[in-house]
Amino acid sequence: MKQRIGKAAIVVALLLTGLIAYQQFTSSNAQERIIRPVAASMPQSAGPEQDALQMIREGRETFRYDTFGDEEFWGKTLKLQLAIGGKDLGGVGPGVSPKTALEVGLKVDMDNLPADLVQKIQAGQVDLNDPANTIFLLQSNAVIGVKSFTRDGVVKAVGITCALCHSTVDNAFAPGIGHRRDGWPNRDLDVGKIISLAPEVKPLTDRLGVSEADLKKVLLSWGPGKFDAELLHDGKATRPDGKAAATLLPAAFGLSGVNLHTYTGWGSVTHWNGYVANTQMRGKGTFFDPRLNDEKKFPLAVKAKDWNIRNDPDLVTSKLPALHFYQLSIVAPKAPAGSFDSAAASRGQGLFNGNADCKRCHVPPLFTEPGWPMHSGSEIGIDDFQAKRSPDERYRTTPLRGLWTHMKGGFYHDGRFATLKDVVEHYNAHFKLKLTDAGVNDLVEYLKSL
Ligand code: HEC
Ligand code: HEC
Repeated sequence: MKQRIGKAAIVVALLLTGLIAYQQFTSSNAQERIIRPVAASMPQSAGPEQDALQMIREGRETFRYDTFGDEEFWGKTLKLQLAIGGKDLGGVGPGVSPKTALEVGLKVDMDNLPADLVQKIQAGQVDLNDPANTIFLLQSNAVIGVKSFTRDGVVKAVGITCALCHSTVDNAFAPGIGHRRDGWPNRDLDVGKIISLAPEVKPLTDRLGVSEADLKKVLLSWGPGKFDAELLHDGKATRPDGKAAATLLPAAFGLSGVNLHTYTGWGSVTHWNGYVANTQMRGKGTFFDPRLNDEKKFPLAVKAKDWNIRNDPDLVTSKLPALHFYQLSIVAPKAPAGSFDSAAASRGQGLFNGNADCKRCHVPPLFTEPGWPMHSGSEIGIDDFQAKRSPDERYRTTPLRGLWTHMKGGFYHDGRFATLKDVVEHYNAHFKLKLTDAGVNDLVEYLKSL
């Protein structure tokens, strides 16, 4: 009987859909009518501008709030929520108070805070040392990039979103609390430390073939603003000099027009989105990249079949088009007036495009090469350890817009140059540019203005 009702409902629904489609068909203009029959089974288009806006909105939701089902990994498996609540709330350990959460670089979106909570924080009535308040922030969807899944008022799992690493806030309310800035890399975020809090890390120790103590040592060696997006594939935790192999969290703005993405040019934005959502966030989707099926280079990816991931249902793929669109729509923020010396910057621009010949690779206004912007380590005067961890074994020319937003953590993929001055001095020596101290300074001011 139940099934019959089901079938009847489907028939009614189909009839209704048909009727609506027919009405739309007959009410559209003559030219559209000629085209419509072909596109009748496709979703209605409102024209490119409206469609683009819709894509941007959907993509933004995904970027900020979608976990792609990764709460199964971070929540059900690693049980991160137990470490957040702490033993007083039925979890383990001391718990993560709002103060601790801010200290490990997590950011709070003030626009998602309930109004009465804002007033209470302002009046100093919220105990920032109480993990229960972190849980409350999570349940308000206010901790950027961390989403909680609650049943009967209890957080049963947490998952992560793209915004965790690629967003920060403007500190409008307090340090670490403000309005979102999508695309800005969070160089305060200590991803390794956060993962190391997880009560259950067996899936990671099993995969890497290391002890829990060694895993924690690796995670804690990354430090703020870094993550290692290749570790689970090649198991290489350290550079040849013994330092952590992790790379800096890059900006996720100013990427339109740029052909290859990541420090080592793994692929397009949407390739990398699929890579990250499936293989790093451990969302549940589909991912295929036969270049990872390389026993010598990526033994762990081969063993875990990460080069060919299939999930049913697939919680990633349908979100990739709009996510891609949103990513490309985030422009690099302009350097605020007064944050650089404009006379020096304009002399620096002359050097950049002239004697120093930076524009050979950093071609304005993209500041990377149109085409295949890849270079060997020796071309730019560095080792090729990180390059060799990628399919092309090259470094991609970094698009330089918005450098001023991430002055923390250093420059180049692993932050080896602490300041822009160090970068320019490196080029000065490597390319024998014979820049004077004043010239170096001018170039730095120009870089700060981009
Ligand atoms: C745990 C932190 C983390 C999360 C979560 C994360 N990323 Fe990233 N992202 C990184 C790191 C680190 C890199 C650089 C990787 C490399 O070069 O090997 C990167 C690189 C990128 C790039 C390339 C930027 C460029 O300069 O070309 C894009 C685009 C990007 N991520 C988008 C996303 C999107 C979209 C999501 C969500 C599906 C996401 N990321 C989730 C850490 C993260
Ligand atoms: C041969 C091509 C090439 C030339 C010439 C070149 N660069 Fe680069 N640049 C690169 C590559 C490749 C990277 C990425 C290196 C890495 O991440 O390890 C890079 C990275 C940078 C970065 C770091 C960006 C970041 O976010 O970490 C800055 C700044 C920079 N270049 C400025 C310059 C300046 C200034 C000049 C001229 C003096 C210059 N570059 C000349 C290829 C080049």
